[in-house]
This record gives sequence, C-alpha cells and structure tokens, in this order.
Amino acid sequence: MVMGTNRMINVIRGVGTPILMIAAGGLVSNLALAGDHAGFQRGVVPVLQEHCIECHQPGGVGLEKTGLDLSTYEGVMRGTKHGPIVVPGDSFSSNLSALIEGRGRPEINMPHARKPMSKWQRHLIRRWINRGAKND
Ligand code: HEC
Repeated sequence: MVMGTNRMINVIRGVGTPILMIAAGGLVSNLALAGDHAGFQRGVVPVLQEHCIECHQPGGVGLEKTGLDLSTYEGVMRGTKHGPIVVPGDSFSSNLSALIEGRGRPEINMPHARKPMSKWQRHLIRRWINRGAKND
C-alpha cells in the first residue's frame, strides 16, 4: 500500500517536471537547453570569433599590446601578459566576464568600438566559466 503510494508520487513527479518546464516558458527552457550543449568549442568560440578574434589573434593589435590571444583555448586560458583573465568556476572574479559585462574600467571595456555582445552571449561566457572553463 505504502509502496504503491510512493510509486504513484514518483509517476506524478516524473510527469510533472516536463510540464513545469514547458509552463516556465519558451525563453527559460531554450536558454537552459542551449546552455547545456554549448561548451567551449560550440558555444564560446563563435562568440569570440564574432567580437574579439579580429584583434586578439596573431598579427592583431590586441594581441600585440596585451599578449592576449583569443584564437585558441590555450591562449584564452593563458590570458594577458599580466596574467589570466579566466578563473575557472568563478566568473565574477574573471576579467573576461568583467570586461564584457562592463564591470572593468570604461576605457578598456571590450570589444573596443564594436557592437556589444548580446545578453545571451554574455550569459554563455559566464556559464562556461562557472562550469569550470573546460576545453569542451
Ligand atoms: C578592435 C580591436 C579589438 C577588439 C575587437 C577587441 N579587443 Fe581586447 N584589446 C584591444 C587592444 C588594443 C587592447 C590593449 C588595451 C587598450 O588599448 O585598450 C585590448 C586589451 C584587452 C584586454 C586586456 C585589458 C587589460 O588592460 O588588462 C582584454 C582582457 C581584452 N582586450 C579582451 C577582449 C575581448 C574579450 C574581446 C571581445 C569581446 C576583445 N578584447 C575585443 C583590441 C581589441
């Protein structure tokens, strides 16, 4: 009898979860789903390519001035000549996140004189850092 009740509750929970996700609305579940699949290669790289690579790759002015090469995972993790810009697991302490969110000094906020990143792109970078900044 007790077991039967428990199973019943489990069944209800099992059905309830997807219904709640749908009820939470397209936006939230889309963000969650996309975020779950977007690691470094498929998530972060396209954002860096769109906004940063042009200057932060070999031959670019950003790399020349700061040593920051955003064209490879190793380069992103190495950071600038002053040190790392990514603290794995802690986006708030990561200069990469601070810069693109406008938490840095205004004169060095990135990208320079370019279209700012979308909210979703900033979210994606933050999330990647908070999940350990892996080369995934
Ligand atoms: C138009 C060229 C250009 C683009 C695009 C660009 N940068 Fe930069 N970046 C620079 C230059 C030049 C510097 C050197 C500092 C300065 O002159 O402001 C720099 C400096 C930096 C620094 C070091 C700041 C410091 O003082 O420690 C970081 C981190 C950085 N960029 C990250 C990024 C990121 C992330 C993006 C993309 C969102 C990006 N940059 C896009 C040119 C660029």
